[in-house]
Amino acid sequence: MDGGREFPIPDGFEGGVDQYLVSLVGLYLEPLVQDLVGKVQILDFFLGERDLLQETVSEEWLQFFDDGDLDQILDFLIFFKNPESLHPPSSLVDFISKIRHLSIDRTLPKDLASTAPLPFLQTSALSLGMSPKKIHECQYLAAAVSSICDDVDTRHVIDLGSGKGYLSRTLAHEFDCSVVAVESVKSRTEGAGRLDTLYDSKGGKRKAKALDAYRAKGSLIHVEKFVSSGDLHEVVDQAELLDEKAVLVGLHTCGNLSHHALRSLFETKAIHGVAVVGCCYNQMTEKLADHDDIGFPMSSKLDTYNIPLPMSARMLACQAPATWTKSSREDFFKRHFYRALLQRIFKDRNLLESDKDKIVIGSLRKQWYTSFSTYCTGACRRAASAHSYRIRSSSPADSQNPFEITPEVAEHYHDLYLLKKRRLSILWTLMACTVAPLTEALIHLDRFYFLKENGARKVSVSVVFNQSISARNLLVVGLK
Ligand SMILES: C[S@@+](CC[C@H](N)C(=O)[O-])C[C@H]1O[C@@H](n2cnc3c(N)ncnc32)[C@H](O)[C@@H]1O
Repeated sequence: MDGGREFPIPDGFEGGVDQYLVSLVGLYLEPLVQDLVGKVQILDFFLGERDLLQETVSEEWLQFFDDGDLDQILDFLIFFKNPESLHPPSSLVDFISKIRHLSIDRTLPKDLASTAPLPFLQTSALSLGMSPKKIHECQYLAAAVSSICDDVDTRHVIDLGSGKGYLSRTLAHEFDCSVVAVESVKSRTEGAGRLDTLYDSKGGKRKAKALDAYRAKGSLIHVEKFVSSGDLHEVVDQAELLDEKAVLVGLHTCGNLSHHALRSLFETKAIHGVAVVGCCYNQMTEKLADHDDIGFPMSSKLDTYNIPLPMSARMLACQAPATWTKSSREDFFKRHFYRALLQRIFKDRNLLESDKDKIVIGSLRKQWYTSFSTYCTGACRRAASAHSYRIRSSSPADSQNPFEITPEVAEHYHDLYLLKKRRLSILWTLMACTVAPLTEALIHLDRFYFLKENGARKVSVSVVFNQSISARNLLVVGLK
């Protein structure tokens, strides 16, 4: 676990986690970072007189962003590449250096990377249905969980948000754990059951029949349940583990499921260890938005700082700019450009009650992004049905229905704003490079302090996957 360190603090913080937290919060609350965290919404990029990059950065930065080669500028923002030859303004170099200095190093520790954990799932019936990403995750996480089980002195595991049961199956059949897989979505639990059967039919070596005995080594049962707190006594009771010790694990426990998992260490008697890799921070709830079920902050330590973690910051925290390829980043830019441009059309057609008005469109399939005109058709179909009350008789001249955008109109807007797509791409990259690493670090510091404050005997946060294979790769462990 990262050479025994409790938290993967970047270099230069000899004062430990506390010193790191103070510096991180200091930068997070600086005005420019706060703008990128919440004030700047890429959707509004074209709504003002001036575009949003102009509104957000200094004249000096803007000039640098406007002049150089776009790919080189993006590589500078993402990887800090070639600052000497690109000559960015010194204030921009300082800003990016500070972000990098405070970002957690997400590389898999050398000792873990050089000794790929057993089993080699590629050659096992366990890999049925798994993507290469899932194989990597299950190999590494199952090995980590197995050693946590050794520490706790149990083989009982509860896999929270188990999906199709890939991790559960690996733990049961390769690591001799007795696993209770808990999942809220029926179709996934059923899919997991089918994969169990397939595993048997392909000669997988089961150590125990499901339902034989919940508590037998190698047993695996699936429980369909929506978990809404850290009180898992019902699950523990059903699995006949009330007087046993169990380790609760989660592979990509999305949103609040992570904090339910961490709280279970203190709210469920049988749980003696937790090991979770979180994801989908956008689905978390935060205190400053007045939620009872608080996913952030969990710790008193972070609570004292009153740090806002708005939805936009949590969405950006799901980005991993270092893993973007040229084509994936181009895809993001196109999606944001189309959506922001459509918002401008909505504004011009008086469809927005204010500039903050959101018209929900949701995600569209790839085929709708072949051109802006095609995008308008797909997006407006959604918008019109969700907002049918908005279709008024006093519609603009080019159509009876304000949500109907002809190819000519779409093309006109597209050509008019195309030159600004470059600025939008730069702003989005600047937002992701700034907000993602800092927010993810804050969330993990909060989880770390929460476990410490509540008396866990061992607490650690460490990198558990290769980030280029699985971007959400921070494992939080707590033992009582
Ligand atoms: C990102 S998926 C990961 C699935 C699985 N662990 C894997 O890695 O393949 C998260 C899973 O958690 C489940 N889930 C989310 N919230 C839940 C809740 N409150 N209670 C139980 N399951 C939940 C989802 O249905 C989903 O299958």
